[in-house]
Amino acid sequence: MKIGIVGAGFVGSAAAYAMVMRGVGTEIVLVDRNDDLAVAQAEDIHHATPFAYPMPVNAGGYDALANSGVVVLAAGANQKPGETRLELLERNAAVFGDIIPHVLEAAPQAILLVATNPVDVMTQVSLGIARRITPDFPAGRVIGSGTVLDTARFRALLAKHLGISPKSVHAHVLGEHGDSEVLHWSGADAGAMPVSAFADEIRRPLTEAVRAEIDQGVRGAAGKIIKGKGATWYGIGGALARIVQAISDDERAVMTCSIVNPEVAGVENIALSLPRIVGVDGVIGTIHPHMDEQETAALALSAGILKEAVM
Ligand code: 2OP
Repeated sequence: MKIGIVGAGFVGSAAAYAMVMRGVGTEIVLVDRNDDLAVAQAEDIHHATPFAYPMPVNAGGYDALANSGVVVLAAGANQKPGETRLELLERNAAVFGDIIPHVLEAAPQAILLVATNPVDVMTQVSLGIARRITPDFPAGRVIGSGTVLDTARFRALLAKHLGISPKSVHAHVLGEHGDSEVLHWSGADAGAMPVSAFADEIRRPLTEAVRAEIDQGVRGAAGKIIKGKGATWYGIGGALARIVQAISDDERAVMTCSIVNPEVAGVENIALSLPRIVGVDGVIGTIHPHMDEQETAALALSAGILKEAVM
């Protein structure tokens, strides 16, 4: 599958690099309003292909996106230190209003994978723009990276505490990719056991203090990294490559992506993350996991915050 990436800055280029390293897709095209940047990134990444998976990596204009199966949208400004993802909204919505018609003109069959923050609202904005062009554009074909990265952070921190592989930990972050996100502790498991039972068994209990530290490590990750180096890109680049892989290989992997939902926790028509089944047609199913009372209330709050942001 050919993969297009619009926005060749830190996030778009890290995604392309991660795709080359993982062997995701058969060809990558980078598009940026700064042609020189797109060309330079494509060349630099292409030079790594002999060490990973040989594939063409090129730069071009929007027409070069023709026949892409997925187009990653990573253009726009990123957060300044101290700025919330929602504060970025106005700036980036205008950028997408310009980009998406060009993308869909060149690649009308492409699944749009939104990375730009605030990603949930940008996913909703993107579906709105796509539907102005194609009124029945399916919601499952405009996918936000959502909390796929937060879920990875949650798994990584739990695994570190437990001293096991993150691949043996299943734990999701739901809701907004942002401050109101919900760590789904009650559904987390390790080694096919509830995570707290597993932790007790190996004598590394998940005390209140440990849980608070992990919560802060996940929720505060972006803020901490932005303070240190101005932006985040490797984590999200890896997450985007992983989502594209699930699409291009028709994996039907369960991932916490964001799409516009008809209703979540009584809030209608809002994009946020729930566990989704992801394959070649995009999101083909959504799971509504069992949550405890506190998590249910937190998800409703998160949905409400997102609703306010789009109004
Ligand atoms: C991240 O969570 C900033 O949304 C970006 O890394």
